[in-house]
Amino acid sequence: MCGIVGAIARRNVSKILIEGLSRLEYRGYDSSGVAINNEEGVYFHRAVGKVQALRDKFSEQPLDGKMGIAHTRWATHGKPTEANAHPHFSGDDLALVHNGIIENHEPLRRELKDKGYEFNSETDTEVIVHLIHDALKTQPDLLKAVQSSLSRLEGAFAIGVVQKDDNERFIAARKGSPLVIGVGIEENFVASDQLALLHVTDQFIFLEEGDVADVSRDQVTIYDIRGEVQERPVSVFNHNVDATDKGEFRHYMMKEIYEQPNVISACLEGRISDSKVLTSCFGAESDFLKKVENIHIVACGTSYHAGMVAKYWIEELAGLPCSVEVASEYRYRKVAVPKNTLFLTLSQSGETADTLAALRMAKELNYLTTLAICNVPSSTLVRESALTLLTNAGAEIGVASTKAFTTQLTALLITSVAIAVENGLSAEKEKTLVQAMRSLPACVNEALQQDGHIKQIADKFANKHNALFLGRGAMFPIALEGSLKLKEISYIHAEAYPAGELKHGPLALVDEDMPIITLVPHNGMLDKIKSNLQEVAARGGELYVFADRETDLHNEENITFSEVPKVEAILEPIVHTIPLQLLSYHVAVVKGTDVDQPRNLAKSVTVE
Ligand code: AGP
Repeated sequence: MCGIVGAIARRNVSKILIEGLSRLEYRGYDSSGVAINNEEGVYFHRAVGKVQALRDKFSEQPLDGKMGIAHTRWATHGKPTEANAHPHFSGDDLALVHNGIIENHEPLRRELKDKGYEFNSETDTEVIVHLIHDALKTQPDLLKAVQSSLSRLEGAFAIGVVQKDDNERFIAARKGSPLVIGVGIEENFVASDQLALLHVTDQFIFLEEGDVADVSRDQVTIYDIRGEVQERPVSVFNHNVDATDKGEFRHYMMKEIYEQPNVISACLEGRISDSKVLTSCFGAESDFLKKVENIHIVACGTSYHAGMVAKYWIEELAGLPCSVEVASEYRYRKVAVPKNTLFLTLSQSGETADTLAALRMAKELNYLTTLAICNVPSSTLVRESALTLLTNAGAEIGVASTKAFTTQLTALLITSVAIAVENGLSAEKEKTLVQAMRSLPACVNEALQQDGHIKQIADKFANKHNALFLGRGAMFPIALEGSLKLKEISYIHAEAYPAGELKHGPLALVDEDMPIITLVPHNGMLDKIKSNLQEVAARGGELYVFADRETDLHNEENITFSEVPKVEAILEPIVHTIPLQLLSYHVAVVKGTDVDQPRNLAKSVTVE
């Protein structure tokens, strides 16, 4: 996805900027560019493809200067061409880089054209730089011109702007897309991700929603959304939280469980505005959303469970039929493909052999298009699918998938709402769902607060050989995922059932040795599942119930109650996942198994 780097120093910044772009490569992009300010003006290089192509241009024609902005672009509006790569210019006066999507770019473009502005790209970004240029005619101060222009933008953005005649400052601003200031000695920086600046500083100021920063060599002044100066805290980067380092955690799995609030934010970044899903997150061909009449989801393991949850969301919100199938089955049968069916694959690694084979088979069939929801931008699945929505969870090292799963669910929720909007979902309902999504990182963080309590109950599982997980509705796939996590890392045999199926067979297994983990949704199924609990309690079963306080469930004889935060119904499957991840982790630790590399399993299953 797009990345921003900016620098102002007493030394040449071109190498700093290019190194920053290299550090953002993991996010995925298709072109890049740099603008350098020096005494003579603003000069730039842009290139399609890897950052190396930009380096080559600098080798052929060096650009030196003590201030500059740089960008990696992941195409949304307009193809990946040099003309569409950032920085974008207004005349030779102003250069700008932008992450995010400007939703009202079309009316703004018309307005600016009427005023005589010429557009040199197909991007939504170019309207911003012309808008600021236009504002400078009546308001010659760059900071004020940026502030007044931003108030006209709808959508999500993080920007960096430099002006030809001003070598003493650049302006950065954010709303809906992250931006961080890197603080140095007699030099300052900006980036969309602090990883991009770790070669020059470890001191960071995280800009807040609506902030505009006036950045010079010796000073950073931050204005909030009302234009008032604010002091934002400086935090020091903890090098222990590197993706390939366990940091303070004993295992990668636990580190990755705790990363979930942050990576879910990263997954939402630039994909929702205050009230809408930004459909351009699906790339330039997002008009498939208007045509889709059916959805086939294909995946393996944990990713398959994410797909099962999405079936509930898509059928409920969009009213479209959705089927979900494991890839190893799909690839070996004759599949009927109704007209206008979307083929959707889910994969953390993007290298799972069965999922890739299913995709290749699907491409020979009559699907509308192929969409991959994936965590690895450079993976085969991403390269071979027509459309991609990256989960942005960062490297997942523990074999047991945790943050990859909850970000898949987040990406699926975005997709489900986007499809539903084209199928009659009201603007009001869309806004409610988007606001629920915004609350998700905080809800997941709250669920993590139960870690101590779950660690205590994990002790009771250490000598068990079997466990049953129950759920209903969209919570059934979460029960499946909970049972997979437990068996994967603690080697306890675990099964999951829709709670209503209990009396059709599995009830025969219930005795005082069988822990039964029940996920209780707070919706129309609450009373039904309470009845299922009674069926188990009456047979002496040992119940572990995960529910919010308002369900009126609590500790009783044979019932251990674990609190899950009360959240919007649509978020329940994601939030209920957290205690199950913690439970399987702590049980595995008590049992002394190899948490991060369980026996017989591989992180990326590249064979059939
Ligand atoms: C989950 O904990 C497992 N490691 C496994 O089920 C995994 O989800 C499956 O192999 C699919 O992998 P993918 O998401 O990389 O395609």
